[in-house]
Amino acid sequence: MKFFIDTANLDEIREAQAMGVLDGVTTNPSLMSQEEGEFEDIIRAICGIVDGPVSAEVVSTDTEGMIAEARRNAAIHEQVVVKIPITPDGLKAIKACSDDGIRVNVTLCFSANQALMAAKAGATYISPFIGRLDDLGQDGMELIQTIRQIYDNYGFETQVLAASLRSPKHVVECALAGADVATLPPDVLGKLLAHPLTDIGLERFLNDWRAWQATKNSDPVVV
Ligand code: E4P
Repeated sequence: MKFFIDTANLDEIREAQAMGVLDGVTTNPSLMSQEEGEFEDIIRAICGIVDGPVSAEVVSTDTEGMIAEARRNAAIHEQVVVKIPITPDGLKAIKACSDDGIRVNVTLCFSANQALMAAKAGATYISPFIGRLDDLGQDGMELIQTIRQIYDNYGFETQVLAASLRSPKHVVECALAGADVATLPPDVLGKLLAHPLTDIGLERFLNDWRAWQATKNSDPVVV
């Protein structure tokens, strides 16, 4: 499973990149609005940090506007994947862009039928929003499982990009469900390695090592 980071903040992206396991970045207008600077400059800077797909979302709502914006976004950098919402106008733009060779990440997906339509239109990625479904008392992870099965049934190559993830448990569940990509908020990415037994175990190993070294006549190996 690939890991993307869900932020437009350059410091957070640099930190995630330094971990050595980052495969790409997703942004959206809300994440962009938290940053200083111009949209194109931020996207270009992100592409300079991460060697992978960088999602840049359109804000037009009509097909022609979305297509024009998608072309502008795609021209910013070869790593850019254009993000388009799965509305009736969006579907036409997804089809036109995909036919044109522009990679599209279809966003704001909340149903299997939306995912089916996106795949038929040639989307590169489908982004089901897990956390926002959970917030409504629905089962976001069930949607990932359903989309996985539908895509496998028909051999659709559209990649399932699990979005709106809120916890490390979501990440495990996405991996079990066969999501191709999980896009993680920085705090969730940071929590993936954390386990109290790892910390306790390491402390015990080091204490035992120090105690053993202290019993020797030679200078102890300091750790
Ligand atoms: C995905 O591409 C979106 O940017 C994101 O995952 C939305 O997450 P949220 O529901 O936490 O805003």
